[in-house]
Amino acid sequence: MDAQVNSLDAFWMPFTANRQFKSSSARLLVGAKDMHYTSHDGRQILDGTAGLWCSNAGHCRPRITQAIQQQAAKMDFAPAFQIGHPLAFEAASRVAAMLPEGLDHVFFSNSGSEAVDTALKIALAYHRVRGDAARTRLIGRERGYHGVGFGGISVGGIGNNRKHFATMLPGVDHLPHTHDLARNAFSRGQPLHGAELADTLERLVALHDPSTIAAVIVEPLAGSTGVLPPPIGYLQKLRDICTKYGILLIFDEVISGFGRLGAPFATDRFGITPDILSLAKGITNATVPMGATVAATHVYEAFMAGPPGAIEFFHGYTYSSHVLACAAAIATMDTYRDEALFERAAELSPHFEEAAHSLQGASNVIDVRNLGLVAGIELASRPGAIGARAYEVFVKCYEAGLLIRVTGDIIAISPPLIITPAQIDEIFTKLRDIINTVD
Ligand SMILES: Cc1ncc(COP(=O)(O)O)c(C=O)c1O
Repeated sequence: MDAQVNSLDAFWMPFTANRQFKSSSARLLVGAKDMHYTSHDGRQILDGTAGLWCSNAGHCRPRITQAIQQQAAKMDFAPAFQIGHPLAFEAASRVAAMLPEGLDHVFFSNSGSEAVDTALKIALAYHRVRGDAARTRLIGRERGYHGVGFGGISVGGIGNNRKHFATMLPGVDHLPHTHDLARNAFSRGQPLHGAELADTLERLVALHDPSTIAAVIVEPLAGSTGVLPPPIGYLQKLRDICTKYGILLIFDEVISGFGRLGAPFATDRFGITPDILSLAKGITNATVPMGATVAATHVYEAFMAGPPGAIEFFHGYTYSSHVLACAAAIATMDTYRDEALFERAAELSPHFEEAAHSLQGASNVIDVRNLGLVAGIELASRPGAIGARAYEVFVKCYEAGLLIRVTGDIIAISPPLIITPAQIDEIFTKLRDIINTVD
């Protein structure tokens, strides 16, 4: 039977209640410009989430759009195995130049999930090429989100993303998460309490022996689980313990990268340098899918041994360094630089923090937390119906012209960095009014 044109049926929607969505009045976006989406019924929707934490320079920016259009007409695809194209080298150099000294070799992929899997594979292979093949364990963290590949869900710590898939990478362990409402509710910026949770890594090292551990992977700020900024001192402790035992530290900066925290990357924001870093989303302003895994000099150099004609790392994707993605990435980085958007995010952060914390006291709000241009607003859950309250807020916001993101009963706000102070006020005023209408 032919599929019905415009039927909602054929598209199996990701991370969506398909039956609920398809039986309710649809939420369809048909246009986007700067800070707004246009809905199918012609309404302007203020983008409080930069799409999915990714359109950091706002939508349909002419410079980026034109770069993609021109490249598509000039050369649509070029293979990247044993051959190259100039934009790949330029995009990699530009990413490396943005990062702190020493994080300087960039492996391209197509998504955050692939960037994470690539990071995990680099970590495992790094020890092996150095003759330390017993280091096969990976350590993630409860509530961590590292995408949906088998590597990412294995080190990730979100139960719903794991429970249906019995097969996981072997030898993975997890640090405890850092969410501590009792001590840290309504923290502004990094919470005061919780640095000691990093000491659990010492316990895991003692349990498994350092000679078996390849890498620790964390999001510097846990995003998708519901915005958990790192407690003061926590990341430094992780760094120190990893260094002490020869364990690689991987920062998953898929969300925190490209200005979100009011600095180019979380590594700059917190002054802590990982050995490997994963990126995606804001790297192309989300216009063309792209992921990137950045290896520190010493990690890359470890692979550059053996016969010069030998392939050093048996890994890559057909679309690693896709020309359209590279063109988009270069134009995006030009935009970030010329519009000083990371500096802008830093300047707007105090106003954003004030506006976010004005929700303290709204109905059922049990926490507000923030860092840079990201805020999490946690609602008390309805008994036996986790997520129902925040979902209702999400739908009402959409109907009122505001896009927010919810995870369980946590609302995440992460607007494009081009947002104005007035638009920040609009987001939080509207959100507070709507939260107050939801029982
Ligand atoms: C920290 C982190 N890592 C990885 C991913 C996965 O990225 P993607 O959805 O592009 O595969 C995400 C997505 O939100 C993320 O937040």
